Amino acid sequence: MNKDQNLDTTKKQLASDLNSAKQSTDVEKLREQYLGKSSPIQKALQNLKELPAEERKAAGGKLNQLKQELETQINDKLTALREAEYNSRLAGESLDLDLPPLAASQGYLHPVTQELERIVDIFQRMGFSVQEPFMVDDEYNTFTALNIPEGHPARDMWDTIYLEDDNLLITHTSSMQNRVMSSKQPPIRTIVPGKCFRNEATDATHEHSFYQLEGIYVDKNIKLSDLIGTLSEFLNQYFETKVPIKIQPTFFPFVEPALEIMMPRPKLGGKLDLENFNPETTDWLEVIPCGPIHPNVLKEAGIDATKYSGFAWGMGLERLIMIKRQINDLRYFHSGRIDFLNQF
Ligand code: PHE
Repeated sequence: MNKDQNLDTTKKQLASDLNSAKQSTDVEKLREQYLGKSSPIQKALQNLKELPAEERKAAGGKLNQLKQELETQINDKLTALREAEYNSRLAGESLDLDLPPLAASQGYLHPVTQELERIVDIFQRMGFSVQEPFMVDDEYNTFTALNIPEGHPARDMWDTIYLEDDNLLITHTSSMQNRVMSSKQPPIRTIVPGKCFRNEATDATHEHSFYQLEGIYVDKNIKLSDLIGTLSEFLNQYFETKVPIKIQPTFFPFVEPALEIMMPRPKLGGKLDLENFNPETTDWLEVIPCGPIHPNVLKEAGIDATKYSGFAWGMGLERLIMIKRQINDLRYFHSGRIDFLNQF
């Protein structure tokens, strides 16, 4: 068979094959068939070396030209088919911009935020104003102003995370006590809800980052009974029932005496059951460290400790929320687990 005729039929054959190709994948197959390693054209190119030298150049030129023409035909068809495929996919994916958004896509408040709002609301109804702490603060406000001088071993009570510039991530919301008391005139009633940080190993009841809510109350004639009455009433309102409490001594340099308010410990992840409450057999859980403000702390804030007295407390919010919402591991709160969050 004449070589030129052969080339001609290859082009025609390819043209008709391409014509019946429906999808870009069909064209890929034809590329393999016509130009791939075992295609006739590749074989012919390999066989060139067997031709006499004077024929080789002309034959090689023709073969390469044919190869290029085949490639062009294939590429044109491929581009056309891909474009058609893309357009039909787009048509299938069209958006209906008039559809109302799904309810779920609007999101909702994190359980800690939901509970924090409730807690803040209870104290606001009691007459407390709200102030937020600085997450990064200095040693003066976090310790020194709170009757914990530099080098005092009580600083080791908190596993503080220090920054390179000697500031720190606040370990407690008490960091606002001095600012609140030195910027206001008694009567002072302020709560400080905020995030705290400790360099701590975590477990079901400890996290390195957590929320605390500080309370500060300063006025004339403030007595221990005011402290107990206020915090006990808070617990009753928060748990929507009369919560039995017990008080035990503890130590914090900025309150004297330092106290810990305790409430019955529910079973881990179980309901707070006060119906069968028996003070003898109840297991108690510390929920609110507190106490009358130490006179040194009042003086440091410019308050006359012979005229005024007050009390302060600082409670861990996740712990209260765990009891209220029957959660057995507080690490879930900030784990970002959607299956956990979806329950609230
Ligand atoms: N700031 C203390 C702590 O985080 C708690 C506390 C606050 C105790 C106010 C007494 C009075 O550990």
